[in-house]
Amino acid sequence: MSALTVYEAIGGEATMRKLVESFYDKVAADTLLRPLFPPTFDEVKERQFWFLTQLFGGPRLYTERRGQPMLRARHLPFPITTRHAQAWLRCMASAMADADIPTPAREAMLQRLTATAYHMVNTELEEE
Ligand code: HEM
Repeated sequence: MSALTVYEAIGGEATMRKLVESFYDKVAADTLLRPLFPPTFDEVKERQFWFLTQLFGGPRLYTERRGQPMLRARHLPFPITTRHAQAWLRCMASAMADADIPTPAREAMLQRLTATAYHMVNTELEEE
């Protein structure tokens, strides 16, 4: 017997797909985040699905397809401030609610993603 991974506990691929769909709908509607992304989200959506699947204990889809994640390096072309990290996390929390991810799993996932989101910050806050 072995403990369930977060990936298994939330419902595996079907839930992860729902989460990623809902997340990029929210990013697309976010005036701070939208300008950083290309016109269509298809590619990043697929890559994020691979990444989150792997991060939360599912199959290692991201590494199989894209190699080492090196996410901070991959985000360096985009000026990411603390406000972007906060907006990203708000979109994710709201997408988790849409995907009906239960509270304990949601908290565990958000805690992990909060660390990652702040790690992506590579630009000073601009003056208000
Ligand atoms: C790619 C923005 C945080 C995972 C991207 C791209 C942008 C972006 C603009 C590139 C889109 C493209 O080239 O088509 C942001 C912003 C963040 C953030 C503003 C705020 C902190 C995160 C976090 C994660 C993540 C926390 C992980 C959970 C990814 C992945 C890719 C990506 C997996 C695709 C990388 C690749 O294989 O090319 N992100 N991101 N991002 N982001 Fe983020």
